[in-house]
Amino acid sequence: MSDLKIKVLFVCLGNICRSPMAEFILKNMIDKMGLSNKFIIRSAATSYEEIGNDIHYGTRAKLIEKNIPFSKREATRITTEDYKNYDFIIGMEDSNIRDIKRIVGDDVDNKISKLLDYSDNPRDIADPWYTRNFEITYNDIVEGCEGFIKYLKKTLKI
Ligand code: 4NP
Repeated sequence: MSDLKIKVLFVCLGNICRSPMAEFILKNMIDKMGLSNKFIIRSAATSYEEIGNDIHYGTRAKLIEKNIPFSKREATRITTEDYKNYDFIIGMEDSNIRDIKRIVGDDVDNKISKLLDYSDNPRDIADPWYTRNFEITYNDIVEGCEGFIKYLKKTLKI
């Protein structure tokens, strides 16, 4: 029997700042809803820049400040297998969406979206690797994850 978990892959350029932050924020929200056993939530990069590296210290500090649990991890790059295996592939900004499609091909199963497209104010999430502002990143990701959960409640009745 195929497993019925909802599989979510967050994607950003380096997989050390935004996408792992989204991974741990959504995991925490889903955990608080008592639905952890229904989800697989991971994150990946589009670039090779940080492969094998743990989260950025700015992301780590923000997660600690906000009491969001996180675990040691290693950045990985998205693969064509990931496209097959995950239900939702969620990028942070338009350039991520373009890069994801360059790697996995056309979005034939309509799985690729941008996180803040689930919010009332669709926009990119700026890269804190450049901005150094992890508070804005955190607030944007919370807004996107709340919108995503609302979408799942409406469409999948979670
Ligand atoms: P992220 O930030 O895409 O939010 O993980 C970046 C981290 C590292 C690099 C770029 C963006 N880098 O080029 O090494």
